[in-house]
Amino acid sequence: MAQTKVIVLYGGKSTEHEVSVHSAQTVCRLLASQPDKYQIYPVFISKQGYWFLQKECSEQTPDDIPVTPVLRPDGVLQALDGSFTIAADVVFPVVHGTNCEDGTLQGFLETLNIPYVGCGVLTSALGMDKELTKLLASEVGIAVVPYQKVSRGVAYDKEALTQWVRERLPVFVKPVRLGSSVGVTRVTQIEQLEAALEAALQFDTDALIEQGVDHAREIFCAVYGDATSIRTSACGELRTVAGEFFDYNAKYIVAGGCETQVPAYIPAHTANAMRRDTESLFRALQGCGLARVDFLMDKNGQYYMSEINTLPGMSETSLFPQLFEASGENYAEILDRLIQLAKEVHARKSVLTTSR
Ligand SMILES: Nc1ncnc2c1ncn2[C@@H]1O[C@H](COP(=O)(O)OP(=O)(O)O)[C@@H](O)[C@H]1O
Ligand SMILES: [Mg+2]
Repeated sequence: MAQTKVIVLYGGKSTEHEVSVHSAQTVCRLLASQPDKYQIYPVFISKQGYWFLQKECSEQTPDDIPVTPVLRPDGVLQALDGSFTIAADVVFPVVHGTNCEDGTLQGFLETLNIPYVGCGVLTSALGMDKELTKLLASEVGIAVVPYQKVSRGVAYDKEALTQWVRERLPVFVKPVRLGSSVGVTRVTQIEQLEAALEAALQFDTDALIEQGVDHAREIFCAVYGDATSIRTSACGELRTVAGEFFDYNAKYIVAGGCETQVPAYIPAHTANAMRRDTESLFRALQGCGLARVDFLMDKNGQYYMSEINTLPGMSETSLFPQLFEASGENYAEILDRLIQLAKEVHARKSVLTTSR
């Protein structure tokens, strides 16, 4: 079998830059351990957005070679000094968050006309938008928490909103399209509402105010595949030990800020229902590639879909591989399937007629 040349992209202009490097190190290591199948080109994207070919996947080093993507049928990357061109078969974006996971990078890769791993432009953009994800989830019968939306520069009935919030405290105020809990506030008193909205609207033009799920348990289910075959994982739980909710500190700053329980201690019928909902949501969003769906469960066992991440953390300590390993799947084989899928999707599109 011919070797597949894979460009692994990581880093990026994103608040989740460092997390991405960890994820990519695992992906590169697993792919490189099958040299008969893969040749790896690790490409680091700096926080300024510059691309560098690395010897080994890491943060920036002085030996990194500046490269640039090129719009040519016979090459994907070129050294900035023109000394070489790389014609890869597949790009594997192992990046997270804004500019990376939201469809923008996927659109760029479409323009380069190269097969790439993960969800396409539409799914990525929808998955990044917490309101549109909820609307589609509701459409296929998945419970979501009630919410209101406030947009910068758009007038709204302050009195009605205040009343709505008063009846539901605590509420969570968050940017519509962001991650890592950045700009998210738990509002317990009505006086905090305005500042919370201001904080969320610093990061996005739209903010959601969600009814809080009291003492929420956070349960996760991972998924990969395409419309012809979708695999869902065991469910896992993440508990914060550091704070009131899963804020940025608990996620990344405080060592041991969270504990993982895989599989989650939840009734089998609930886990099965969550797996079914994960598959339905992935289908509704026309997912193709991988994702992780996050749920909030209240003390009565009622759960709500909270969000979907179309490029979830992929390091060995991340949930995505752990959840699948708990259901007996091998991570390296999942990566194989994802690369295969990228080629299949591209091949399916390549035969479409583009002129008439
Ligand atoms: N409606 C809610 N009820 C209870 N907790 C919430 C709610 N919304 C968010 N949270 C808490 O805030 C965290 C971050 O919110 P989330 O919507 O997942 O944003 P992000 O995309 O930044 O991860 C969640 O993991 C959870 O701990
Ligand atoms: Mg989240």
